[in-house]
Amino acid sequence: MLDLDKEEEILILAIESSCDETAASVVRNGREALSNVIYSQIALHTVYGGVVPEIASRKHIEKINQVIEQALAEAGKKLEEITAIAVTCGPGLVGALLVGVSAAKAVSFASGLPLIGVHHIEGHISANYIENKDLEPPFLCLVVSGGHSHLVLVKDYGEYEIIGRTRDDAAGEAFDKVARAIGLGYPGGPKIDKVSKEGDPESVHFPRAKVAGAAYDFSFSGLKSAVLNYLNSCEMKGEKVNTANVAASFQKAVIDVLVEHSIHGAKQYGCDKLAIAGGVASNSALRAALERECQKNGIRFYHPSPALCTDNAAMIGAAGYFEYKRGVRHGFDLNAVPNLRLGEHIGQA
Ligand code: KG4
Ligand code: ZN
Repeated sequence: MLDLDKEEEILILAIESSCDETAASVVRNGREALSNVIYSQIALHTVYGGVVPEIASRKHIEKINQVIEQALAEAGKKLEEITAIAVTCGPGLVGALLVGVSAAKAVSFASGLPLIGVHHIEGHISANYIENKDLEPPFLCLVVSGGHSHLVLVKDYGEYEIIGRTRDDAAGEAFDKVARAIGLGYPGGPKIDKVSKEGDPESVHFPRAKVAGAAYDFSFSGLKSAVLNYLNSCEMKGEKVNTANVAASFQKAVIDVLVEHSIHGAKQYGCDKLAIAGGVASNSALRAALERECQKNGIRFYHPSPALCTDNAAMIGAAGYFEYKRGVRHGFDLNAVPNLRLGEHIGQA
């Protein structure tokens, strides 16, 4: 366990730019977000039906300085009061990541403050520490975002073991693709979440995929194809598609698998705490289902509020604090690593 002195004040200025959110935050002792500024590019990318990497990078360049200044101002802190700079260095879109990493290096060079590169998924997991002051490892965390679906055993701060992962599409990716197919547009997750409330989740039966020999792995591409086949067959038969029913049935198929794997994993690994993280963790039906199943199985359920589930910099500040306490420091050769693996060590200063 880390020696976490509650009396000292460690302030992390955190930067996140791995996808389509330009974000900065000041976090105190890993658990308190003094500011959490997010400039979302969603409206810009909506016309293209998804994130356009080149546009994302350009917009990050335009916004990053302003977002960092705003994060300091809203926290009521000057750069001289900050202890260290944390930045997402991977995984993500390489051009987008580079903007945040370069900005963090520049601030670190100019101020002399230590620089800490943070893994984006470690950030998502650490979002749980901000609103759950009592949450400490070990626990199991279901990480479900646009690029990842992982079941992660958090053994200690900064120590992870991935016990399950997706073999194809990430959960959020499946939400986005199915939303596009049923005409809801981008970003798909929140739209399916909303329209599903009007639909019957039992109306269409979609498959719940299992991966042979890997109890905790996920596969969502077959489910996505099943939805497309269903839509095609309706069209061939001249039947009108009930969008809300298809959305609700698809969502239920995803949630059933996520919940079953999470509860099974928690029991098998002897975890009495389960947390969720990532954009899909803001899904209202998933949260309700996990709340119910955790209660039934005597597991404590932890979740960040929806704004801390999707990409933000407060989560990077929380993760950065624990990395700082572990003694992690990076040099100016810190680079953006688009396919960085969780737990992979990048060269330190
Ligand atoms: O964590 P995140 O903001 O970015 C990545 O690191 O990927 O996750 C974005 C993903 C998108 O696929 C989006 O559709 C999904 O999270 N998402 C949701 C909801 N809100 C966002 N999926 C289901 N229900 C939601 N309410
Ligand atoms: Zn993310």
